[in-house]
Amino acid sequence: DDIEQRASAGALPSWDDVESLVQAAYERNRTVDDGEVADYIPILGEADPALFGVAVVEVDGRVHDAGDVDRRFSIQSISKAFVYALVCEELGHRPVLERIGVNNTGLPFNSVMAIELNDGHPLNPMVNAGAIATTALVPGDDADAQWAFIVEGLSRFAGRTLELDDVVYRSEAATNQRNRAIAGLLESYGRLDRDPLETVDLYTKQCALLVSAHDLAVMGATLADGGLNPVTGVQVVSPEVCRDTLAVLAASGLYERSGEWLFEIGLPGKSGVAGGIVTVSPGKAGIGTYSPRLDSAGNSVRGQRATAHLARSLGLNIF
Ligand code: DON
Repeated sequence: DDIEQRASAGALPSWDDVESLVQAAYERNRTVDDGEVADYIPILGEADPALFGVAVVEVDGRVHDAGDVDRRFSIQSISKAFVYALVCEELGHRPVLERIGVNNTGLPFNSVMAIELNDGHPLNPMVNAGAIATTALVPGDDADAQWAFIVEGLSRFAGRTLELDDVVYRSEAATNQRNRAIAGLLESYGRLDRDPLETVDLYTKQCALLVSAHDLAVMGATLADGGLNPVTGVQVVSPEVCRDTLAVLAASGLYERSGEWLFEIGLPGKSGVAGGIVTVSPGKAGIGTYSPRLDSAGNSVRGQRATAHLARSLGLNIF
């Protein structure tokens, strides 16, 4: 509690103190077994529900890891945040705002109704419709060039070359009829300029890139650090793009639970159905968590609890 009081005074506490608070966030939540492993993408149902990792990377590059932080899993929806940042960097604030939007749908991440209720506008880049529309804006003459752009860009955020999990990709490609329908619907409203099936295929691949909780913490720390990867020293995107991306995450990063998340944790974050969550403490650190059991909105239960613990104990709430 002493450490917690010092932490809430401003900057992060000493390395030793952060280290013990990360361990505590891990230990206190490792036996939580609420929630269910996602299985609408068949292969995800095979994940070991006991896995749990918590990682913090500070903006000065210092690392704190607890549990299964090197275990790789598919990035899933967390890719939406980083592809969005890369597209904003390429196209600029205004065109992306008009095309994709920044408001929460209040509905699940794969809602078709949200599109129908809004004249085909996807509303924000964190739901599937907006993410598919964002992936369509990725520069490149063809899908191969777009894929290279996505892999290289996300790898710069992570500070290492990310690889595709071909089994996850194929499992989702065989069962993503709903996303294909969403892309077709966007096209029917004149809101998709690329081939809808090719775009969904690219989006499905970006979701199957493999990351670890540690990678997510580095990626989050890059957004926390104005776009400068604190481990590699590479400027990945501009500070303005980080600001835009973090605002979108605050509003919609945890789907229809984004308000509750902001209320309890007070930081921008993004979840994925494989069980990852990335959270950004601007100017301070990135937090990466992994645990496959999810709540009904598709957000990792232990990940939310560990992040809440850290936000409180490290005094990270931005409000
Ligand atoms: O499109 C999908 O359904 C998945 N590739 C990603 C969804 C996801 O991660 C939602 N997150 N919590």
